[in-house]
Amino acid sequence: MSTYDARFKVWRGDGDGGGLEDFTVEVHDGEVVLDIIHRLQATQAPDLAVRWNCKAGKCGSCSAEINGRPRLMCMTRMSVFDPADTVTVTPMRAFPVVRDLVTDVSFNYTKAREVPSFVPPQGVAAGEYRMQQIDVDRSQEFRKCIECFLCQDTCHVVRDHEENKPAFAGPRFLMRVAELDMHPLDAAAESGLDRRRTAQDEHGLGYCNITKCCTEVCPEGIHITDNALIPLKERAADRKYDPLVWLGSRIRRRGEHTA
Ligand code: SF4
Ligand code: SF4
Ligand code: FES
Repeated sequence: MSTYDARFKVWRGDGDGGGLEDFTVEVHDGEVVLDIIHRLQATQAPDLAVRWNCKAGKCGSCSAEINGRPRLMCMTRMSVFDPADTVTVTPMRAFPVVRDLVTDVSFNYTKAREVPSFVPPQGVAAGEYRMQQIDVDRSQEFRKCIECFLCQDTCHVVRDHEENKPAFAGPRFLMRVAELDMHPLDAAAESGLDRRRTAQDEHGLGYCNITKCCTEVCPEGIHITDNALIPLKERAADRKYDPLVWLGSRIRRRGEHTA
């Protein structure tokens, strides 16, 4: 097994301020950045705050920025760096720092609560829902989300513009609106909820200029922009400029997808 000493810069501080601290720390074959952070805690910085749970890329809690790029610490192998490089680890920039690498991500929980949930169809009992496989597959892609909030962190609409946060749900939650709007059994429209109008008016869909930065950082490889945001924009445009197109397509979809 080969080892080497890596140079790290780790942000230390809290909501009142802080800065980068230098460390030299041993790295072993096969390790990931989270292993190095744990070794720092064990040997040099016992009070270093870091959030993690699964160390398997599934809980979404070890999100941070590594050399300025939003990433999961447990899924970033040390082998992607040159041993001569300095690796810089900082907290997610779009959210307030609690301490060191731990941020307050409650913005995301607020946005999650603002998206009305699935509206069950009238007259179809639970267990009797029928959908085509193509619709199941589409939802499955979005359901792979582990809520790491790296897409929310990287989106320029809020990353450097705190003032946009009240009006913008962010890619993760616009994706949720898109998923529900595409769902063939969602009865939101019948209950008076126009998801495409709320996407524009309440969740800030218009702020997104489809730069695809959110897609690039998603550890689950979800095609957030191509499969959720762009289709939602197309549907919202139909709704905005031609309500009859929207109504017709909705009736067609329900006819196609319900058994
Ligand atoms: S595609 Fe839209 S939501 Fe995604 S990062 Fe760009 S502006 Fe933000
Ligand atoms: S969509 Fe991807 S990047 Fe965004 S929260 Fe979910 S898993 Fe993370
Ligand atoms: S510790 Fe769970 S995703 Fe990294």
